Amino acid sequence: MFGFRNKLPQDIFKGATDLHCHLLPGVDDGFSTVEKSLHALKKLEEHGIKKMVLTPHFMKDYPDNNRTTITAKFEAYKEEAARVCGIELHIAGEYMMDARFLEHFKQGFLTLDKQGTHVLCETSYLMCEQGVSEMLYEIMCSDYQPVIAHPERYEYANKDDYFKWVDKRFKFQLNILSLAGAYGSNAVAKSQYLLKEGLYDYVGSDMHGLSNYERFLPEIRLSNKNIERLEQLIENNKKLVG
Ligand SMILES: [Fe+2]
Repeated sequence: MFGFRNKLPQDIFKGATDLHCHLLPGVDDGFSTVEKSLHALKKLEEHGIKKMVLTPHFMKDYPDNNRTTITAKFEAYKEEAARVCGIELHIAGEYMMDARFLEHFKQGFLTLDKQGTHVLCETSYLMCEQGVSEMLYEIMCSDYQPVIAHPERYEYANKDDYFKWVDKRFKFQLNILSLAGAYGSNAVAKSQYLLKEGLYDYVGSDMHGLSNYERFLPEIRLSNKNIERLEQLIENNKKLVG
């Protein structure tokens, strides 16, 4: 069955926009230093990436991360980055739907798009905590559009859950390394399924370090039809950020 699958075209990320990464250094479990992060940026520029939306974690585990602190750190980082590469950088957040979610909502989310609507949201991998649907409903009443990060990685989620979320008008963002097996065989199967069903809207690398990205990306094998679907997601990313 895998015989009909192909490598990604070499230039698939030429001019692309990455909507999910942890390149802002020293604020979460992503890049630990400015040097490592800038090195990765230069590599990504060689791969043809044009824009990156930085999405540090906003969750209980990182209590110092809020709109004010992250924006200030991003502005300083952006200046450093401009000295070494031409990738256009934007700041957003990856918001865990935990006890602090509504606090971040009141502060105003850092969104993926300039229009200030699309909010990258995640749940725990093991369980969907109580109240998640209500929280998402509340932010949608304020015209925010939830974008669910890596739905394929939630172990508790089944096909019914995915279609229920689609019915609620949540958008889905594929973590591209799921396709390569970076998060196990269940995530491979679910990501292939969601891609085939056309349930994804966007794609992100969710890069926490360069080595995982460089190791797993060449491992991806997709049918030609799914490569076309992935190319469409890359187009959707570009349109969202503008
Ligand atoms: Fe992430």
